[in-house]
Amino acid sequence: MIQTYLDRWVPIKTKLSKRVVIDKDDARPARLIRLRPVGFPIREMHRNYNINIENIELFELYAKEQWMGSIVSLADYLFDQRVIPDFAYQVTKALPTGAVKIDENTIIEIDTTDLKQDSESKRTKIKLADVIGHSQVKKKCRIVMRYLEEPEQFGDWAPRNVLFYGAPGTGKTMTARALANEVEADFMMVRATDLVGEFVGDGSKRIHELYSTAADNAPTIIFIDELDAIALDRSFQSVRGDVSEVVNALLSEMDGLRENVGVVTIAATNNPMLLDKAIRSRFEEELNFKVPTDGERLKILQSYALTLPVPLEADLAGFVKRIKGFSGRDIKEKLLKAALYKAMLEDSKTVTQRHLEESLKEIDLGISKPPGEMFS
Ligand SMILES: Nc1ncnc2c1ncn2[C@@H]1O[C@H](COP(=O)(O)OP(=O)(O)OP(=O)(O)O)[C@@H](O)[C@H]1O
Ligand SMILES: [Mg+2]
Repeated sequence: MIQTYLDRWVPIKTKLSKRVVIDKDDARPARLIRLRPVGFPIREMHRNYNINIENIELFELYAKEQWMGSIVSLADYLFDQRVIPDFAYQVTKALPTGAVKIDENTIIEIDTTDLKQDSESKRTKIKLADVIGHSQVKKKCRIVMRYLEEPEQFGDWAPRNVLFYGAPGTGKTMTARALANEVEADFMMVRATDLVGEFVGDGSKRIHELYSTAADNAPTIIFIDELDAIALDRSFQSVRGDVSEVVNALLSEMDGLRENVGVVTIAATNNPMLLDKAIRSRFEEELNFKVPTDGERLKILQSYALTLPVPLEADLAGFVKRIKGFSGRDIKEKLLKAALYKAMLEDSKTVTQRHLEESLKEIDLGISKPPGEMFS
């Protein structure tokens, strides 16, 4: 059952298979409703939407007031219209069974077990050991890990802002995520452009919310991808007032004006030279992600080859010299994937040297198809 401000009195059934219109008088009063926070209907996949309900009793009052009179049954959705507009809750238990009406006596519970499992299963299991090469970077990351584990040890000396820079596909996002996994920190990933709001004031509000959520859930890594998109140079910012507003809000958070204990900002860019100097100077550490060496490319090839659903039989050590300059992503997403699909289309029992050669040739010629067309 969806209820919104506009159609409060026109309930819409969401389960298309069962379009039953229930007369309000037919529904029995709900004795208990259990709600599981499930997130937004349309938002970006990679954002972290863990919500934190601190006071269950208050939540019950809030939910009851908002959804009083709604008729729901198992698996229906209720959308928040107030604190987090459009955030959906799914009914995971409704007593008595069948369609029930929420009234002042309904007990509303929050399904926290599922919440924990959800955030656990969403968390990828990538660890720093899975990142091949980048030994200097990993060494520096250890301090960040220690801080996230014991922030109180650091006081004023906390590592706050770290910049990851380097060519596309060299493992910046992967490393940041692995870092969070190592210490079981929350990982909040945002694209810099998403921080710019539609209206003046939106952007700085978003930054503020981002950091206060991060602090509430600390330890947290805030990963700002494509930083250069908003933090170019001042001339660009003056064209768009909202961008400069975002940059200023970001600067004050990065300065640690508010106590963001246990929060580390990692920003990524392909080219640090493009960054606004004021922003760039906020990073205590700039870590360079270089394209892999011969030995690293071999390791990357070998380790991803092991995960292929069709075994790979080829002289990888020899092949490595031919893919100089390839990033980890090029190796995995372009080369190995294309070779795998070729083998699959031929019903071959193995991915062979020939499949690799053919894929490489297509990449060299620039006719490698984007992933969506790889099946054709
Ligand atoms: N050093 C590496 N070790 C293992 N796998 C890697 C490595 N570098 C890249 N990969 C693979 O390539 C994928 C893409 O890497 P990632 O998204 O981290 O790159 P990036 O540096 O963030 O790129 P961009 O600048 O385009 O955002 C990873 O998910 C991983 O599968
Ligand atoms: Mg990235």
